[in-house]
Amino acid sequence: MAHLAIKGGPPELPQGLSLPPWPVFGDAERQGLLEVLERGEWCLPPEGKVAEFQRRFAAYIGSRYATACHTGTDALELAFRSCDLDPGDEVIVPAVTFLASASAVVLAGGVPVFVDIDPETYQLAPDAIEAAITPRTVAIEPVHYSGYPADMDRVLEIARRHDLFVVEDCAEAHGTEWRGQRVGSLGDMGCFSFQMGKTLTCGEGGAVTYSDEDLAMSCYACSRFGQRPGGGRYEHHQPAGNHRMSEFLGAILLPQLERLEAQTAARHETGARLDAALAAMEGLSPLRRDPRITRRAYYFYLFRYDASRWGGIHRDRFMAALQAEGVPCGTAHNDPVYLYPAFQNIKRSLLHGNPMDYRQVHCPEAERVYHSEVVAMGNRFMMDGANVERIVSAIAKIRRHLDELATVTD
Ligand SMILES: Cc1ncc(COP(=O)(O)O)c(C=O)c1O
Repeated sequence: MAHLAIKGGPPELPQGLSLPPWPVFGDAERQGLLEVLERGEWCLPPEGKVAEFQRRFAAYIGSRYATACHTGTDALELAFRSCDLDPGDEVIVPAVTFLASASAVVLAGGVPVFVDIDPETYQLAPDAIEAAITPRTVAIEPVHYSGYPADMDRVLEIARRHDLFVVEDCAEAHGTEWRGQRVGSLGDMGCFSFQMGKTLTCGEGGAVTYSDEDLAMSCYACSRFGQRPGGGRYEHHQPAGNHRMSEFLGAILLPQLERLEAQTAARHETGARLDAALAAMEGLSPLRRDPRITRRAYYFYLFRYDASRWGGIHRDRFMAALQAEGVPCGTAHNDPVYLYPAFQNIKRSLLHGNPMDYRQVHCPEAERVYHSEVVAMGNRFMMDGANVERIVSAIAKIRRHLDELATVTD
């Protein structure tokens, strides 16, 4: 009789993991929405919900200012526009991230230069940044991918030495801390997404955080028709779009921000326990533990699978077996971004004369990790710490029946 669920045996977790509902909301969100509806000022009153959210979010992140906007992609585009990229200027982006980290650079007139990841953290590899800098480089974009922070000591030091902007993509890292300081306040600008799956959400939304006065001026103008703070309503200093957030979304974000800290603490705790459990298991390992990471927020929980210590069985078969036992998992954002048709077949006019050819880009670690190493789980399971034991028991069962797993045909 088969033991493993993938071979027809009974699953270890017939009910799967406990996945608490998301998003979480209550009377505070309901009341806030009604208040805005009935007040009738649905767009940016000076003392409205969005203005208050911007103040509170900036304070939470540890920046002087925040500008709320439509999406995380919008936030990144605004940040790069505020850095005043000339067409064809280069921005260094990690090969492994969501498409938007790179497409926002293109939308702002820049050219993403993809660099490899550190195999122990899956974040931008600092040595690869150095090697990618050219006279056209204007900014580095560390993405705190999955909620794990990039090595900000090295990123900031390299940026300082080469006089480059640092635009942090924090879309997956609300509340992550590096040496006790929240990401989004370490570089020149931080960009957040409040899309439905993100750990701070209003359905669709975003924000840029920053402290420098010149960037504040520039971001203000880029986000609202080229206006200046205190300037006239029809005084426009540059041709710019309208990226302002509706009051209804501010009404949702204010109470959501109140909930964020406790939710982040719960995920951090679950992540630390699962890291310790996986580190003790044969052929699996968590991302590197680093004492400079004082708080980890999670968008995905990622771990590493070593096929050579699982009888040569490919990661995909291990994941199929784990799913069959009741643990949802996958590979998160899949391929390195330069491999998408969006970059393989990019129109040359979008590169503004820059000779970049994405068909020649090759980041060996990024490709290897996504082909055969990373296992990713969405963060919802992390709100219930009891899921750690469930995941461990499902993996331990697969391990006990490794011989049976070897007979599965892919
Ligand atoms: C790393 C990263 N950057 C940027 C974005 C874009 O955010 P949005 O979907 O709000 O445009 C996302 C969202 O999925 C993301 O994961």
